[in-house]
Amino acid sequence: MITKTYCTAAFLILALAGAFEAQPVRAQDDTDQGRVLAYTCMGCHGIEGYRNAYPSYRVPRLGGQKSAYIKSALIAYRNGNRPHPTMQAQGGSLSDADIDQLAAWFESRATASDDVVADDVAGFAPAAVCVSCHGVAGAAVEPQPPVLSGQQEEYLVHALGQYKVGKRTGTVMAAFAAGLSDADVATIAAFYASRDGLTTPDKDR
Ligand code: HEC
Ligand code: HEC
Repeated sequence: MITKTYCTAAFLILALAGAFEAQPVRAQDDTDQGRVLAYTCMGCHGIEGYRNAYPSYRVPRLGGQKSAYIKSALIAYRNGNRPHPTMQAQGGSLSDADIDQLAAWFESRATASDDVVADDVAGFAPAAVCVSCHGVAGAAVEPQPPVLSGQQEEYLVHALGQYKVGKRTGTVMAAFAAGLSDADVATIAAFYASRDGLTTPDKDR
C-alpha cells in the first residue's frame, strides 16, 4: 500500500514536471504528432555536430527552421528534385500529413534568434541581396526562404555548392548562388553560422 501510494505520487510529480516543461502554446495536434514522428529523424538531426559520411559535412540544424521550407525540402527529396539517398528514402516514406506534422514540430523548436539587417553586411556586397529574403531569422517574413542564422557553416557551404552546380532544382536560389565565388560562399557561410538562430532540437523535449 505504501509502495503503491509512493508510486502514484512519484508518477504525478513526473507528469506535472512534464506538463510544465512542455510549451503550453504549442499544444496543437500537428506539433504533438510531429514530435512522435521526429523520433526517427533525431538519430541524425538530434545529435549536435553529427556528420554526413560522404561527402563529409555537418547535417543541417532544423530546430526553428520555417515549416514552409521544411515541407518543400522534404517534398523535393521525395520527388527527386534534391539528391541524397538517405533523405530521399526518408521523404519517400512520409505522407503529406506526416510532413505537415514534422514541419510544425521542428519549427516549434525555435529559440531566440538574431535578425540580420542590411547594415550587418554593409561593406560586403555579395551578401546585400541575400538579406532581402533571408535577413530576418524569425518566421514572420516571407514563409519560403529558409532561416540561415545559426545554421551549420559546413552545411551552408554545401548547400550553396549544390545550387551552383544545379543539384537542387526548381528554386530561385540557383541564380543567386551562381554569382558567388568560393571566397564569397565561405564568408557568407561563416557570417550566418555565427548568428544565433537555428538549433539542434533536443531529443528529450
Ligand atoms: C541518417 C541521417 C538522417 C536521418 C535519419 C534524417 N536525416 Fe534529414 N538530413 C540528413 C542529411 C545528411 C541532410 C542533408 C542532405 C543534403 O545534402 O541535401 C538532411 C537534410 C534534411 C532537410 C533539409 C534541411 C535544409 O536545411 O536544407 C530536412 C528538412 C530534413 N533532413 C528532415 C528530416 C526529417 C523530417 C527526418 C525524419 C523523418 C530526417 N531528416 C531524417 C540526414 C538525416
Ligand atoms: C528572392 C529571394 C532569395 C534571395 C535574394 C536569396 N535567397 Fe537563398 N533561398 C531562397 C529560397 C526560396 C530558398 C529555398 C530554396 C529551396 O527550396 O531549395 C533559399 C535557400 C537558400 C539556402 C539553402 C539553405 C538550406 O537550409 O538548405 C542557402 C544556403 C541560401 N538560400 C543562401 C542565400 C544566399 C547566400 C543568398 C545571397 C547571395 C541568397 N540565398 C539569396 C530565397 C532567396
